[in-house]
Order: sequence, then structure tokens, then C-alpha cells
Amino acid sequence: MPSTLQRDILGISVPEKPNTGKKFYLETFGCQMNAHDSEKVIGTLVHEGYAQVDTVEEADLVLYNTCSIRDKAEQKVFNRLNDYKKFQKQGKKFGVLGCVAQQEGEKIFERAPYVSLVAGSASYRNLPQMLVQLEAGNSRVTGLDDRQTSETFDTEFTARTNKHRGYITIIEGCDKFCAYCVVPFTRGKERSRTSESVLAEARRMAEAGFTDVQLLGQNVNSYKDPSGEMSFAELLAAVGKVPGIRRVRFTTSHPRDFTPEIVTAIETVPTLCDHVHLPVQSGSSRVLKLMSREYTREKYLECIAWMKASKRRISITTDIIVGFPGETEDDFQHTLSLLTEVQYDAVFAFKYSPRPNTPAITMEDSITEEEKSSRLTRVLDHQREIQRANYQHHLGEIAQVMVEGRNEARGQLLGRHSQNKTVNFTTNALIQPAIGSYVDVRITKALPNSLVGEMITV
Ligand code: SAH
Ligand code: SF4
Ligand code: F3S
Repeated sequence: MPSTLQRDILGISVPEKPNTGKKFYLETFGCQMNAHDSEKVIGTLVHEGYAQVDTVEEADLVLYNTCSIRDKAEQKVFNRLNDYKKFQKQGKKFGVLGCVAQQEGEKIFERAPYVSLVAGSASYRNLPQMLVQLEAGNSRVTGLDDRQTSETFDTEFTARTNKHRGYITIIEGCDKFCAYCVVPFTRGKERSRTSESVLAEARRMAEAGFTDVQLLGQNVNSYKDPSGEMSFAELLAAVGKVPGIRRVRFTTSHPRDFTPEIVTAIETVPTLCDHVHLPVQSGSSRVLKLMSREYTREKYLECIAWMKASKRRISITTDIIVGFPGETEDDFQHTLSLLTEVQYDAVFAFKYSPRPNTPAITMEDSITEEEKSSRLTRVLDHQREIQRANYQHHLGEIAQVMVEGRNEARGQLLGRHSQNKTVNFTTNALIQPAIGSYVDVRITKALPNSLVGEMITV
């Protein structure tokens, strides 16, 4: 894969600088924003004459793009750095990028003295200059001062690893400051790209053969076009009308900025996928207030009602935090009842983890680990039953599926439904459908987390 990245970035050949002979290894932790940042970092490094390798052993420069959303995620990064301590004698350079880098800053140099680059995501625009400093032997290169920037990291050198499905960042940072969350501290202030540059990227991707794009941001629907031309719903519709684009997804939406226009766009532009991820965090208005989420259960349910009233059946998924400071059993019951009321297609649930710098760190982390685990299990058990029933409505449906891979052992193909659900299917066609193609599949079985079917051949 690394060698193809050099030739095939966004399907366009990259005007490479002469190969410096330097090799880098990059490992990514965290969310889709981080995954996509890594694609841009790889593109930038390749453009600067570095080659990507698959192992730490082969690399001259080892980079970790890190996540600090929960304590466990952060610990993983420090464990990894410890594991690779042994390589310092071989003269390898180490760099820490991403959210732990921004959060811990220069303290990382004290904790791991063999690290010589620490940079947060708001500084990636300056990566080429940082690489020059590293090459010059500077052992403490930093990119940590850009959290207040209003610039975004736009680059045409994006090393997308999937040839058919790709991300486009439309908004960076976050200004919401939910009481538990590190993101506003690690990713800086909210800043949107112009609709023109987003659309230009979508067109370039379509020309390069991509058919499925996902608009990305911590809060995509807080999007504010700096040129004032388009609302988020208008941008969604415009991306959906780019010739060649067959599917448009977007994540994550914030309930506070969710509008009926987004639902109308989904209803009227067939390429917009029938799926909305709308994190609620808690079903109790009291806890939502403590979390500073700036909406109530009732307001959230209003957004759900807009989607349920749509002529198109929209799949809804969410995130939940259990055990936020002060969450009582009664509050928790409100979360369970919300799951029943909404009938989500998927729930990502997490135990509250106290994070540095956040307002909630000063609140007493009053719920025991045991109780948090119990609530997490109860949420997941409850949701599994909801999904078991929910997925049944797909039975008999003929769904359009994007082919993503093959499971040779099971003799099945693997694909993705427009609602982002996994579909495992068989075919008796003589010629197997190509990866990235779209096929019709009759759904014959529904499991709590996936669908099973057979491809329709004519
Ligand atoms: N911007 C998105 C989500 C960002 S982080 C939003 O506002 O919804 C992804 C998820 O991680 C969050 O939705 C939340 O459920 C979870 N999360 C964030 N901080 C957390 C913390 N301190 N402890 C546990 N879960 C957390
Ligand atoms: Fe974190 Fe809240 Fe911003 Fe989401 S909206 S990234 S949960 S601060
Ligand atoms: Fe993690 Fe940063 Fe994403 S904290 S979840 S990598 S925004």
C-alpha cells in the first residue's frame, strides 16, 4: 500500500519532491477526524519526499496521531511510546500528533525524552516547516500555538486509503465546551471551510472515481460558510448533486444546531444517505444541563420527530455517556426510556471518564466504577433488544449495497447499506461484483448488528 500512496493520492499523481530516502511509520488512534487528518498528514509527508512504511522497524520517523477523549485512549498512547523506547538507540525520531499532543504539550518531552516532535491538529498546515526543523536536528519541535487560528488544513495531498469512499472535512474544532469533553481544548476553535473549496474537493474526488463521500466535523451542522453562500443543508444538497457522487454521509451532528432543512435535504436529494448520527449523551434534562449540552430531552425529541415524519425512513444512531457526575438511577432510567422512545439503529455508549481541563473535572466523580459498568451493560443489553426488533423491518427489502470486500472463508461478499449498516451477501453470478460497485441485494435475514442477503442477478 505505501508505494501506491505515492502514485495515487486522490487518484492524481502527486508532484513529489525528490525522494529524500526518509521513511515514516504512522499509527492512528481516535475518531474519523483523526483518521482523515492522518490521510492528509501522509499526503503531506509523501509530497515532502518521505515514503510510508508498514513497521516501526523500517522507519526513520515514527508518528502517532493520538486521541485523548477518554483516559483509556490516552493511556494507550503512552503505553505505545513505552513499548518503542528500545528504538531510541537506533536513532529513530518519534513524533506525537493529535489530541494528546495538544493536551499534554511540551510535558511529553519530559515523559518521553526520545520524542522530538509534538504537534496538535490545528498546526498541521505547518508540517513541512516542522519537518525541516526535525531534519536540522532540532530535538524539540512543536506545533502547539494554533488553537485560536481561523485557518483550516486544506490540502490537495490527501492519501485516501479507500478508492471509492472518502472523507471531506468541512469544519474543524469545536466551540461547544460540553462539561466532560476535551475536544475544544485539543482541536481549537470552530472554523469552517468555504463551500466553494468543499465542493471543489468533492468534484476532484468524483473525477478520481470516488462515489461515496462523508462530510466530517465534530459538529458538521454548526457549519458556517465563511463566504456566507450556503447553509449546512444547502451544502449537503450541493455535494449530493456533484456528478458521479452516489452517496453523501455526514457526521457528527449536534442536536442544538439540527434543523428541519437537513431532513428536507435528505428527503429531496436521493444521494444523501438516510442516516443521521445525533449524539444525545443522556435522556435526562437535568444531566444534559449539568453537561452543558444546551438542549433538553424535549428539544432533542423534537429533532427526532422531524426525522420520523420524513417520507424517507431515516436511520438514527447516537452516543451515550453513563455515570456522569451526579447521574442518579432515576436519570439513568430516563436514558433507557429515551432509547425505547427513539428506537435507535445503533448506540455507542461510554463510561464517563474525567478529563484534564474540562469543567466536569471539578465535579466529584461520584459514581463508582462498578456502577458505571453496570449502567453501561444495561444500556447495551437494552439497545440490543431494540436493534433485534428494529433490523427486522429490512426483511424482504431490496437494498442497494456498495461492495466493500469478500469473506472468502464464508463464501460471502461484504457491503454497506445506505443506512451505514453492514450487509453480508451471497451471489450466484458467474462474475463477482467489483469492490466499490453497487449491487441490489434482497435481505433475507436480520441480525442485531448486520443484515444478510442474496444479490439479485438478472
Ligand atoms: N462532537 C460529537 C462527539 C465527540 S466525541 C458530539 O458532540 O456529539 C465522541 C463521543 O465520545 C461523545 O459523543 C461522547 O459520547 C463521548 N465522550 C466524550 N467525552 C467523554 C468523556 N469524558 N467520557 C466518556 N465519554 C466521552
Ligand atoms: Fe465535545 Fe461537546 Fe464539542 Fe462534541 S460538541 S466535540 S461532545 S465539546
Ligand atoms: Fe479523540 Fe481527538 Fe477525535 S480526542 S475522539 S481524536 S477529536
